[in-house]
Amino acid sequence: METVVSGIRPTGNLHLGNYFGALRNFIKMQNENRCFFFVADLHSLTTHPKPDDLAGNVKQILSEYIASGLDPEKVTLFIQSDVPEISEMYVLLNMLAYVGELERTVSFKDKVRKQQNNVNAGLLTYPVLMAVDILIHRPGKVPVGKDQEQHLEMTRIYARRFNNLYGVKLFPEPDAYNFGNDLIKIPGLDGAGKMGKSENNGIFLIDDEQTITKKVMRALTDSGPVAPNTEMPEVIRNLFTLLKVVSSPDTVQYFTDKYNSCQIRYGELKKQIAEDICKITLPIRRQIIDIRENTEYLNKIAKLGAEKARESASKTLYEVKKIIGFNRF
Ligand code: TRP
Repeated sequence: METVVSGIRPTGNLHLGNYFGALRNFIKMQNENRCFFFVADLHSLTTHPKPDDLAGNVKQILSEYIASGLDPEKVTLFIQSDVPEISEMYVLLNMLAYVGELERTVSFKDKVRKQQNNVNAGLLTYPVLMAVDILIHRPGKVPVGKDQEQHLEMTRIYARRFNNLYGVKLFPEPDAYNFGNDLIKIPGLDGAGKMGKSENNGIFLIDDEQTITKKVMRALTDSGPVAPNTEMPEVIRNLFTLLKVVSSPDTVQYFTDKYNSCQIRYGELKKQIAEDICKITLPIRRQIIDIRENTEYLNKIAKLGAEKARESASKTLYEVKKIIGFNRF
């Protein structure tokens, strides 16, 4: 059984892109692997969230993951700051991270450009903390998107550096978990790339029926095909991508035929998409609301997750400290 670790940033509500992307894969993975999934609340401090927002976002994201099918009995689902071993190992691993290489990280350079008035040291050492999140459970695989590849490469560098410096084989060098064809990219509704957090292009799991219908009906289209069997422009292809994800093959065929024979009515297509999205998301929405209100349950889940994560983390930290030369007597 492979050990898998991944962190989730507590920012904003989950949208369909998250649901049909990473989240679906997490849910599939939970049956075959030893999974550690956590809410990266320490990482989120780099942008100085208000305390109430931070607490609310952590609660929301946990509720959404559980409501979507992540099973806290199967995976170790925890909150990063509940595991003090992570912070302790962060101090130790920082000694192996060179400032020069951290300054050259793409994500850091990006932040320096975008938040010039808050270039804090936590941003600089973000990859070190992430490496600790991962290495502390000594996993083989890390399911992350392309944007995290450099961070994962740095994780491997630190693992190797530690092993070499102390002449040990403590840390494996984890690979990215390759979703291959399973990773569906959900387009946004504004005809501009993939679905993101913006209200204009995202449909969120927490959206109600009215909101979803309004958003889908507002999605960009064109004036319709002018000749049979012509290639679809991007905005229309995007709608069909959504349709394929949420509707039955028969329905997809029906609208494809309509398009190819120039008889398509975009209003009808959108109505169908909205209906089928609702069939999937409304039951999840109800669960999210139930779970979110059940503070007792959430506390229980977080406590259980923290216990399991600490058990694994403390084993690694113990080894690390022994190797470094602490615990001598
Ligand atoms: N940096 C990741 C992101 O922005 C979140 C993250 C933090 C993470 N620690 C991690 C991902 C460890 C995987 C493993 O999405």
